[in-house]
Amino acid sequence: MNLIVANESHFKYAQDICDTIAESAKIRGTGIAKRTPEYIQKKLSNGNAILALDGEKFAGFCYIEVWGHEKFVANSGLIVHPDYRGQGLAKKIKAKVFELSRKKFPDAKIFGITTGLAVMKINYELGYKPVTFSELTDDPEFWKGCQTCKNFDILTRTEQKMCLCTGMLYDPAHKKKPEEGKQMNGKAFTRLKSIKESLFLKKK
Ligand SMILES: CC(C)(COP(=O)(O)OP(=O)(O)OC[C@H]1O[C@@H](n2cnc3c(N)ncnc32)[C@H](O)[C@@H]1OP(=O)(O)O)[C@@H](O)C(=O)NCCC(=O)NCCS
Repeated sequence: MNLIVANESHFKYAQDICDTIAESAKIRGTGIAKRTPEYIQKKLSNGNAILALDGEKFAGFCYIEVWGHEKFVANSGLIVHPDYRGQGLAKKIKAKVFELSRKKFPDAKIFGITTGLAVMKINYELGYKPVTFSELTDDPEFWKGCQTCKNFDILTRTEQKMCLCTGMLYDPAHKKKPEEGKQMNGKAFTRLKSIKESLFLKKK
């Protein structure tokens, strides 16, 4: 498996990446910001994306987005092809994209929003902390990305204060990583998620 910083020579993978993201969201039944192949190609060409390739085959992907005049960066669009899941590939991709973010944007806070337990676990191990949305970027362009998510009405109803996603933030000013072996409380997160779902998704 090769983990590389992508470039224009990888444009042919953009459609595959989009299809895998959309298909996975459909199966999970969760909301997701939709990405077009053109959007993915932009990420591939500006040196802000990590691509995992098994020979010529697409195995996984994640990219960096820059917000609020480089005060914040997000590591977004994490996807591992179903054939390669459960082998620690997402962890490797996130570690690599995190390293790239730290190198290119050393002063930026790194954040993500997610409904996925796997992503929360990985982020936690990298030193991210769960935070309220008010701690994240207020760049309207970032939040515009949520418009294509099926849960966007929740974000609107709460005036952008909360949604089904949980915000997580790495602040370079507080570099301390979680102690070795200390894991995120997955049960607490799953419980919080089900409370939010029953609150926000209740039938009208
Ligand atoms: C989520 C996803 C990226 C995980 O990829 P993966 O390569 O299978 O993940 P890893 O093997 O690196 O696992 C990382 C950790 O998450 C856990 N994990 C993996 N999938 C999980 C799941 N579906 N539910 C709960 N935990 C999960 C693993 O057990 C591991 O934890 P551990 O370190 O305590 O053992 C992959 O399933 C995927 O692409 N899903 C669809 C897209 C998606 O959900 N993207 C995130 C959007 S925010």
